[in-house]
Amino acid sequence: MPIAFWLINYNMNLTLKIWRQANTTSKGEMVTYPIENVSPDMSFLEMMDVLNEQLINKGIDPVAFDHDCREGICGMCSMYINGEAHGPDRLVTTCQLHMRKFKDGETITIEPFRANAFPVVKDLAVDRSAFDRIQHAGGFVSVNTSGNTQDANNIPIDKHDADKAFDAATCIGCGACVASCKNASAMLFVSAKVSQYALLPQGKIEATDRVLNMVKQMDDEGFGNCTNTGACEVECPKGISLENIARMNREYLFATAKG
Ligand code: SF4
Ligand code: FES
Repeated sequence: MPIAFWLINYNMNLTLKIWRQANTTSKGEMVTYPIENVSPDMSFLEMMDVLNEQLINKGIDPVAFDHDCREGICGMCSMYINGEAHGPDRLVTTCQLHMRKFKDGETITIEPFRANAFPVVKDLAVDRSAFDRIQHAGGFVSVNTSGNTQDANNIPIDKHDADKAFDAATCIGCGACVASCKNASAMLFVSAKVSQYALLPQGKIEATDRVLNMVKQMDDEGFGNCTNTGACEVECPKGISLENIARMNREYLFATAKG
């Protein structure tokens, strides 16, 4: 009879130190919760679900955190785990981070994304509507869709430009770039949104207004300046390149010169 591997318990016991804050204005604090029998195959959010079930059963307020798609698309799951936005893995969001990345007995620190422009709503949930307002300021193309829209394939686009525009468009607006930056700069996010249009002919018409309005809104929201530390690129779950910031700076210079 082979060794019954399925009887061996590989599950982990962990200590979670979690930021608890009742609302935007209240003073928060780190609270420690032990959690047992965590499967390495659980996602980080599934582990948080288990914790919350245990807290509810004990009559304790569950930990508030944002999530929606749980498949790396919506950008909602903003958590700062062991000092890194979206935790220790690379090119994944918190919902796609798995507990196998941690060790049995480990203490895991979980905080919200911190930036003045992202006020804490409750516990780990932050208000990232500043990103929505930046997007509203210029992250769109105005196309008359009254029946005269030509087929997109009628406009030839250089493959190199199409690829770069697509890469920029993969930004999911999660805010990890802001949370990772010592200045809480939103340059990587804004530059991705500017770049995805700047590289395509459809985006040229409003290019000047777009970059000026989006950068102004970014500044109005209170995000910090970029000092080229590159932390945003390292922590971005979608691998958005710093090249986009350089492109946005060129677009901005051109737009201001144009007046
Ligand atoms: S640039 Fe990256 S880190 Fe920043 S919002 Fe977009 S996907 Fe998130
Ligand atoms: S819950 Fe949608 S990206 Fe994580």
